[in-house]
Amino acid sequence: MTLAGDVVDWAVLRAEAVQAAQLAYCPYSGLRVGAAAVCDDGRIVTGCNVENAAYGVGLCAECTMAGQLRLTGGGRFVAVACRSGRGELLMPCGRCRQLLYELGGPDCLVDTPTGILPMRHVLPDAFGPANLPGGGA
Ligand code: THU
Repeated sequence: MTLAGDVVDWAVLRAEAVQAAQLAYCPYSGLRVGAAAVCDDGRIVTGCNVENAAYGVGLCAECTMAGQLRLTGGGRFVAVACRSGRGELLMPCGRCRQLLYELGGPDCLVDTPTGILPMRHVLPDAFGPANLPGGGA
């Protein structure tokens, strides 16, 4: 089953992201980040940022959410919201846009400051599986 974007409960998804942000490990930046996604089977997966004393190897909330997608049954992201622990809307960083594109594709919806937008707008002219020989995995 694939859920259409119009049945996504964005209020619930945003609240899940804020809740996930409370579990962040962010002693260096102090910024709690939570990500939440509706998957194509209707379940919600979440993630939080996990920082590291070696700053560059810290994990964004979207990274740990990608792990949760795989660990809880796989599938695809249909709709994604990222929020700070205080409820502010945060946009995925460039690297995480690539992650979301891989696991959600161009039609995956993202909560942005200018409204709900598909990944094809959030990461225009994306490099993706179709650019690999044989169309990727
Ligand atoms: N962060 C995320 O979790 N996701 C993003 O898309 C942007 C940045 C985190 C990484 C770091 O722990 C903190 O925000 C400050 O950069």
